[in-house]
Amino acid sequence: MKVAVFSTKPFERDPLASALAPRHEPRFLEPGLHAATAPLASGCSAVCAFVNDRLDAPCLDALAALNIRHVALRSAGFNNVDLPAAQRHGITVARVPAYSPHAVAEHAAALLLTLNRKTHRAFNRVREQNFALDGLVGFDLHAKSAGVVGTGKIGARFARIMLGFGCRVLASDPAPDPELLRLGVEYLPLRDLLAASDIVSLHCPLTPATRHLIDAKALAAMKPSAVLINTGRGALVDTRALIAALKQGRPAAVGLDVYEEEADLFFRDLSGEILQDDVFARLMTFPNVLITAHQGFLTREALANIAATTADNLDGFERGSPPEPNLVTPSLFA
Ligand code: NAI
Repeated sequence: MKVAVFSTKPFERDPLASALAPRHEPRFLEPGLHAATAPLASGCSAVCAFVNDRLDAPCLDALAALNIRHVALRSAGFNNVDLPAAQRHGITVARVPAYSPHAVAEHAAALLLTLNRKTHRAFNRVREQNFALDGLVGFDLHAKSAGVVGTGKIGARFARIMLGFGCRVLASDPAPDPELLRLGVEYLPLRDLLAASDIVSLHCPLTPATRHLIDAKALAAMKPSAVLINTGRGALVDTRALIAALKQGRPAAVGLDVYEEEADLFFRDLSGEILQDDVFARLMTFPNVLITAHQGFLTREALANIAATTADNLDGFERGSPPEPNLVTPSLFA
């Protein structure tokens, strides 16, 4: 089957080519998928899309007009797809629900450890033979309270990592994980978690209900000394409210792997261009904010798993339907 693979990056081309090649004919395309680029999929039966591709109603209309009947997402998140529009056109959507929860959870831990022990600043200082330690004081993670918002596959991994550091782990999730409960994780309503946590890490999906989950009120409910980590989706946090709070000195540090308006920025080298996003520009000026450009998934293991599951999803579609657990339906928003 011919598949138009949008937003292809050099680091994923080889794993995708070898997983898809035996049975499918991938057409690797650098542009992202949106209504204007949809015609690049002409002649294909399916498209393969990534996190910042915009599969809104106009894009899905354009794909349906090309007779495309399947979208294979190379991501776990699916907030970028208008699912009712896909359903209207009879376009099935499949995702990669779990390619490596370890990759993202470990990246969240990396952001936390870097912010806390300021290794990014120490690296630069030492290279300039500045061996002074002022401004590098951190805190022991041991015995601190780590709040995990969303304890699905990634959040549960992050909770276990925090337990390994000797943290008291608090969690908020409408569906508590019995195994985490057995390990001593305490489930609380979000507001109580925010008030009690020294670390807050976001691992719930972006849905209409979780958009701006961390707004001005939520930020005010957090300890001023807390560290906020977001490796979920950018719009879980109201960025303008976060900037206002940071200007007031809270939270103490913020680690972000995702940003609300990242689609216009991330996954590209814009180093020679003038940054047009003033909100992002302001965010980057805070010394206690560490931003990575949506690289939580970026491990060799995760890339291989993404490619293998994407191939399974395309095989399944050809046989009649992608594997049930990978199918994305509007009920997942519930
Ligand atoms: P999952 O579906 O296994 O777990 C999500 C959990 O969030 C579920 O337990 C669900 O009950 C819970 N949840 C839903 N609404 C909630 C709410 N209002 N408050 C608290 N919890 C709530 O998903 P998984 O695989 O753990 O991924 C989580 C998210 O991480 C994805 O939706 C995606 O947005 C993000 N992600 C980020 C990546 C990156 O590279 N930075 C890579 C992969 C995923």
